[in-house]
Amino acid sequence: MQTLAQNLSSQGIEAPLSQLIHTLADTSKAISHAVRHGALAGVLGATEQENVQGETQKKLDVITNDMLKDALKADSTVRGLASEEEDYIVEVGQSGDFLVCFDPLDGSSNIDINSLVGTIFSVLPAPSGELSEKSFLQAGRNQVAAGYVLYGPSTMLALTTGKGVQLFTLNPDTNEYLLTCEAMSISKDTSEFAINMSNQRFWEAPMQTYISDLLLGKIGPREKSFNMRWIAAMVGDVHRVLSRGGLFTYPTDNKNPEKPYKLRLMYEANPMSFLVEQAGGKASTGYEAIMDIAPTDIHQRVAVILGSANEVDACLEYHRVDYSEEPNL
Ligand code: F6P
Ligand code: MN
Repeated sequence: MQTLAQNLSSQGIEAPLSQLIHTLADTSKAISHAVRHGALAGVLGATEQENVQGETQKKLDVITNDMLKDALKADSTVRGLASEEEDYIVEVGQSGDFLVCFDPLDGSSNIDINSLVGTIFSVLPAPSGELSEKSFLQAGRNQVAAGYVLYGPSTMLALTTGKGVQLFTLNPDTNEYLLTCEAMSISKDTSEFAINMSNQRFWEAPMQTYISDLLLGKIGPREKSFNMRWIAAMVGDVHRVLSRGGLFTYPTDNKNPEKPYKLRLMYEANPMSFLVEQAGGKASTGYEAIMDIAPTDIHQRVAVILGSANEVDACLEYHRVDYSEEPNL
């Protein structure tokens, strides 16, 4: 089995990017170690702080954010970073080639129930000139690398540099990432979907109709039965989609009209969309490809529909219908 270093070199990844990927991978090993020690290390539970999005930070949100920040600050290839847990961008060096956006611990509400969590990262080219928040506001298509680390029964790193998606498993005996799947591929068709059903009444008409049709199974217009899964950590749900196909969505809802979307473009939606497209799947807001969005704010949120290409297309068909005349929706 190839090591991460061997795989990056066989893909022809050049030194600066390879160095950065190693920094991220090495930090994820330390995070994996902290997550595994859980209550033994006193790292579970919440802090008294809120992040910029008004969410209470878990102790591990803060610990993992600091671990990544410290490691990236020490990496000469990094010009700046933006994190879901940081109010503002952080300038790192004057000459680094890359900007890194990350969600240090996705799904952190799962921490206290000893369930799946992960780290998501996105690497953008650093524009020349002075660094500002504007330097980060690049479309997902600009990403030079993206990936996630899933801290599950085994720790896994899924990575793309635009040459497919490679999956590595952390060998707990040697603490080394080894290539366990050289090309992750999402099946075109699926009969599995992932959505937080408790929000059903708050969705837009296209999503309500689409999900109702899936639930009708064989007697409905789709003429087949669908299964549902919801891990409540995007990293876990997207890993399942990459592993065995499926459709994952966190759609627009009007539960809180000031916050119609949940997932963050720069830290979650863009990197996951890059991975999904590289594995043959699709990623859309319902109205446009996620990676084509021109960002306006580093912390902005978007609607996400991603996964098996034919199923995402089926869902997008519902978004082309005009529901304004429908009495019940
Ligand atoms: O980071 C946001 C997030 O935790 C995702 O990882 C996950 O998909 C979603 O929110 C879970 O949302 P909910 O709490 O509605 O189940
Ligand atoms: Mn998250």
